[in-house]
Amino acid sequence: MMGMKVAKHVDQLRDIIRFWRGQGLKIGFVPTMGYLHEGHQSLIRRAAEENDKVVVSVFVNQMQFGPNEDFDAYPRDFDRDCQKCEEAGADLVFHPDNEDMYEEDFITYVDMTGLTQGLCGKTRPIHFRGVCTIVTKLFNLVTPDRAYFGQKDAQQLAVITRMARDLNMNIEIIGCPIVREDDGLAKSSRNTYLSAEEREAALVLSKALRAAKEKIEAGEKSAEVIQNFLKEAIETEPLAKVDYASAVTWPALEEKEYMEGEMLVAVAVYIGKTRLIDNVIVDIAE
Ligand code: PAF
Repeated sequence: MMGMKVAKHVDQLRDIIRFWRGQGLKIGFVPTMGYLHEGHQSLIRRAAEENDKVVVSVFVNQMQFGPNEDFDAYPRDFDRDCQKCEEAGADLVFHPDNEDMYEEDFITYVDMTGLTQGLCGKTRPIHFRGVCTIVTKLFNLVTPDRAYFGQKDAQQLAVITRMARDLNMNIEIIGCPIVREDDGLAKSSRNTYLSAEEREAALVLSKALRAAKEKIEAGEKSAEVIQNFLKEAIETEPLAKVDYASAVTWPALEEKEYMEGEMLVAVAVYIGKTRLIDNVIVDIAE
């Protein structure tokens, strides 16, 4: 098969996967909600290096959005997404409609306790149930050998890794580094919501995280000190409102008074109406 394919329906996807499987090919998978940027492309490129075939899904999954969140406004441009997928080495884009993924009487969910309750789970209580459910469905359809997720959504990466382990999914979950703009802003489809003034203000996330990392590397071990330091640094920016600033163990996401081992230092910040997240993983010296 030559050139990138697009499957709109479950049956079309399954036929292609069956054909590849028959040839003994390894399949890498990059699930996305579209409006692709360099971050997604880095996942697709990595998947293309490590597998024979790469499937990218483009599906804005309403189930993971709260009632007052940005499902309707979420940016969509499928033609542009296809170009970006092809450029990065994808073989197949799966772009189902809502009706293809969810029957009207759909009632089965994949839910997780613990890991999903802190950080983003506090303000987005139904988010990870939606993510775990759609990712399980996509895994069942694509049956990948490896699946690729960005570390920008660090909690999502930890949750999916644990879900794959807990449910014996036999899929290798691969976390890939955050891709940033030249000035440090983490790439995100939601950056398109920002006005010029907000775009400038959004730099406060990566700047505060960089300063917190330096503070930790200089010897600070108290999680509370780092959390307060982050909050104060972010609140120097008048357009910013902190949702959370946390330092938790990685990848168990547990709170600790004194940081040790690998720690996830993560923030969620409203810049105007747009909620942005960013993080660094820091290895605390003994
Ligand atoms: O990270 C995302 O874009 C989404 O949460 C995912 C994994 C594609 C599930 O809808």
